[in-house]
Amino acid sequence: MLNALAIILAGIIANSNVSSVPQKPIGTLYRWKQMDFVFPSPEEREIAVNNGQYVQANVIPLGVERWKSRVFVSTPRWKKGIPASLSCLPIVAEEASPPLTPYPSWDWHTADNCTGITSVFRMAIDHCGVMWVLDSGQVEAFETPRQICPPTLIAINLETDKVVGRFQIPEQFVLQDSLITNIILDSRDPQCKDLHVYISDVRRFGLTVFRVADAAFWRFSHYTFYPEPLLSNYTLHGVNFQWTDGLFGMSLGNYHLGDRPLYYHAMSSSFEFVVSTSVIRDPARVNNSTDEFKLLGESRGPIGQVSAAAVDRNGIMFFNLVLQDSIGCWDTRKEYKVENLGIVAKNNKTLVFPNDLRLDHEIPQVGWIISNRLPMYQFNLNNPDEYNYRVMFLDPVTAIANTVCQY
Ligand SMILES: *[C@@H]1O[C@H](CO)[C@@H](O)[C@H](O)[C@H]1NC(C)=O
Ligand SMILES: *[C@@H]1O[C@H](CO)[C@@H](O)[C@H](O)[C@H]1NC(C)=O
Ligand SMILES: *[C@@H]1O[C@H](CO)[C@@H](O)[C@H](O)[C@H]1NC(C)=O
Ligand SMILES: *[C@@H]1O[C@H](CO)[C@@H](O)[C@H](O)[C@H]1NC(C)=O
Ligand SMILES: *[C@@H]1O[C@H](CO)[C@@H](O)[C@H](O)[C@H]1NC(C)=O
Repeated sequence: MLNALAIILAGIIANSNVSSVPQKPIGTLYRWKQMDFVFPSPEEREIAVNNGQYVQANVIPLGVERWKSRVFVSTPRWKKGIPASLSCLPIVAEEASPPLTPYPSWDWHTADNCTGITSVFRMAIDHCGVMWVLDSGQVEAFETPRQICPPTLIAINLETDKVVGRFQIPEQFVLQDSLITNIILDSRDPQCKDLHVYISDVRRFGLTVFRVADAAFWRFSHYTFYPEPLLSNYTLHGVNFQWTDGLFGMSLGNYHLGDRPLYYHAMSSSFEFVVSTSVIRDPARVNNSTDEFKLLGESRGPIGQVSAAAVDRNGIMFFNLVLQDSIGCWDTRKEYKVENLGIVAKNNKTLVFPNDLRLDHEIPQVGWIISNRLPMYQFNLNNPDEYNYRVMFLDPVTAIANTVCQY
């Protein structure tokens, strides 16, 4: 069997001094107690610290993506002192806790007139090598939220590292207090011309669709995008908090007979739902599709909240169980019920609040996960002497061995 990690790690071995190869289906590529950046000079770093532009304790990684030799990480401006909100790292790890290199460059993160990048939540890379970056335009969400620029989709060509498109989400689709947090791509042709972007609004419960061909946006609302009241009450490692978060996780099933399903769930929910992408790709259906959004099966139970999810090439969905320090799996060919849901990884140190989860375009495919102890960050409970943030990788084939998802 081809082992994706063996291949990644063979590269790491060849290029650095790492001597032991973890032969397991999930592992940590990078981990940080607190995060640092590659400043232009030590002097500039010191100036940023002194004037409050860089407050190390406030930096938290949220989104992750991988393209070829690089891993991209977002660090949203949720509190003051985040000097850059999108960075890259080499996939060949030369140190365990490297500083982040702002991407595409520092300049993109320092303009204060909405011509640059304001605050990135998540990003998604299409199979043509363009990274679609979701810039919320909002800062200090955990302090005094301010919408300083309009939410914008930014397209960056990863071969040239040039911004090749900027698409402001039209005002009529950004409601008061909207918080657009997640993004997935539906690209079906070799040149990525027939590309649609699906964007979730976690606070005002909407699904915005962007059609790249003519830069058109439209937005669906549906009652299945709402949170469940009792699932909005979370307790994680003794920390109790309430999040009334709606539509969040989305993943695309495999293409079949001219269509493919979009699976989705609210963050504060134990249910998975499904809609055909042929419906949401048609702007004429925005007021005429209520019955197309369907419950998928059984509840995941009282601690069944899930953040991100993704479906691999073999049709296995992986999803982050945020209150169970775990990553779950489901074979999309089977019924969605508890006995068909497996756990591929569980760890009460490394997987505390697994947050983003993406599958890359490599062969074999590799999964990428960020775990970030987000509730502890929100309430300033993280210990700077411990590892709080991790970029992890997952081999989707070996991870399902001996689980109900093995096929
Ligand atoms: C925005 O700010 C950047 C960097 O400070 C500057 O180069 C650019 O000219 C400004 N653009 C506008 C439209 O003000
Ligand atoms: C919320 O969770 C806490 C901690 O488990 C519990 O004490 C409280 O009763 C819960 N509230 C509701 C409304 O269920
Ligand atoms: C859907 O309904 C809204 C509100 O009534 C309206 O503004 C919009 O034009 C309608 N869209 C379509 C495609 O019918
Ligand atoms: C709603 O959509 C269905 C399926 O495309 C179509 O048959 C029907 O005519 C539409 N109804 C309206 C009022 O647009
Ligand atoms: C983690 O799990 C181990 C083994 O089950 C247990 O001994 C330990 O107390 C747990 N730690 C936390 C922080 O929950």
